Amino acid sequence: MVEPTRSAPAALRGPRVTLAPLVEADLDAVRRWRSDPTVTAYWITQAVPTPAELREWLARNRREGNLLWLIRDERGRRIGFVTLFGIDPEHRKAELALMIGERDAWGQGYARETLRTLLRHAFRPVAEHGLGLHKVWLTVVVENEAARRAYAACGFRQDGVLRDDLYRDGRWHDQILMSVLAAEFHQFDQGEN
Ligand SMILES: CC(C)(COP(=O)(O)OP(=O)(O)OC[C@H]1O[C@@H](n2cnc3c(N)ncnc32)[C@H](O)[C@@H]1OP(=O)(O)O)[C@@H](O)C(=O)NCCC(=O)NCCS
Repeated sequence: MVEPTRSAPAALRGPRVTLAPLVEADLDAVRRWRSDPTVTAYWITQAVPTPAELREWLARNRREGNLLWLIRDERGRRIGFVTLFGIDPEHRKAELALMIGERDAWGQGYARETLRTLLRHAFRPVAEHGLGLHKVWLTVVVENEAARRAYAACGFRQDGVLRDDLYRDGRWHDQILMSVLAAEFHQFDQGEN
């Protein structure tokens, strides 16, 4: 069974992206992305965090055993971050959140590649230095077409609809609950290669 981790996440490598533990030096970039209303249009909050709030965000995530990775592209540029949080060791599941914050990196497959790299690690057995999870789940605003496509392209399926789950721009938006199971991902991942 996966144990709650208090240690830094493992460094991961995809064909183009590298995922490294997110550290204090990355927070300026996170703040810039979180300040862009186009990037946060479907994010859980559009409030722009102060530097102090972001330091507390990082510290809280570490305390809670959440895993945060900074995403760099093939040139080493910071392009976004991805997290696994609410890691549940009993039921071997975790929630995922992903932000490709550099808008000029959108539409080039970085989200898909990040997700596949991360899910391989998440579903790898603990004995093989993975997280040994059974399920990764998330919620996505129904209008966030790009995110829904990226998740579907990595094996996520729709579990249901959370009605009026997010209030933005003066109206309620539904969110889709999506998840991918280890066996589904392996089948899907093998089929892709
Ligand atoms: C959503 C997001 C992760 C997508 O990242 P990305 O690197 O541009 O995605 P990819 O290039 O891997 O593309 C994924 C899919 O979305 C499609 N896509 C990309 N931009 C799109 C757009 N503006 N509208 C519709 N589809 C789009 C791609 O064609 C691809 O679909 P396909 O596999 O069917 O070809 C990124 O835009 C982002 O981080 N946005 C801000 C934060 C956010 O919304 N995060 C998700 C919260 S749930």
